[in-house]
Amino acid sequence: MQVYVCRFSLDILYLRMGKIITVAHQKGGVGKSTLAMNLAVCFQDQLSVALVDTDLQGSIVDLQEHLPGLTVMQEDNFESIKAAKQDLVIIDTPPYLSNRLPELFLISDYVLIPTKAGFFDVMAIRSTLALVKQAQAKYPRLKAGIVLNMIKPRSGVTQEVLNLLQSFDTPVLQTMVHDRVSFTRSPITGGVLAGADIKAKEEITGLAEEIVESISE
Ligand SMILES: Nc1ncnc2c1ncn2[C@@H]1O[C@H](COP(=O)(O)OP(=O)(O)O)[C@@H](O)[C@H]1O
Ligand SMILES: [Mg+2]
Repeated sequence: MQVYVCRFSLDILYLRMGKIITVAHQKGGVGKSTLAMNLAVCFQDQLSVALVDTDLQGSIVDLQEHLPGLTVMQEDNFESIKAAKQDLVIIDTPPYLSNRLPELFLISDYVLIPTKAGFFDVMAIRSTLALVKQAQAKYPRLKAGIVLNMIKPRSGVTQEVLNLLQSFDTPVLQTMVHDRVSFTRSPITGGVLAGADIKAKEEITGLAEEIVESISE
């Protein structure tokens, strides 16, 4: 089996300082857990990483058996999360607008907001973006980015959606994640980096690199 290494062109050592990446969007089904898990596997190559689900009803801990080497925890105590002795913590959040998100954003270094590429899907991220903005007003070092996920290979992203995204203050990442079977299966295959889908690997690596770049700025 070909081993694919998540190589970063940037100095990833900067992340070895207990950085926290939070994946958030109040809607379910947009790929928060899928991207959180795949990013954790990607960074795990060079850092010690904890994947944390703040939703105590969530199912991320069930993934532990498929993710050797990764610390997977269900934890909604932010002090315990901050105290986790890991280079990097990736936090997955519940599929509703939790009243604890503002507090969570204030302990984060980066908030990743995944969305599908439909017009109404993109409209729906505005309440999460508003919370990010409020947090950034208090904590200007907080970075954030929107990632388009589950893009249909044939239809792509329409101009209206691109215009709408550009009207937001939060940047849209260049990396777009497409609808791929390898992502659907990734929770039980140990992440797309462990599989053979080169395009999926490039997307996750590209996403990870853009996040590192933004946090390091
Ligand atoms: N890029 C993708 N390609 C294909 N399927 C995806 C992709 N991202 C997520 N999915 C699938 O979409 C569904 C919802 O994803 P999930 O990560 O559970 O979303 P959330 O955590 O936001 O509720 C799952 O069945 C997942 O496998
Ligand atoms: Mg989820």
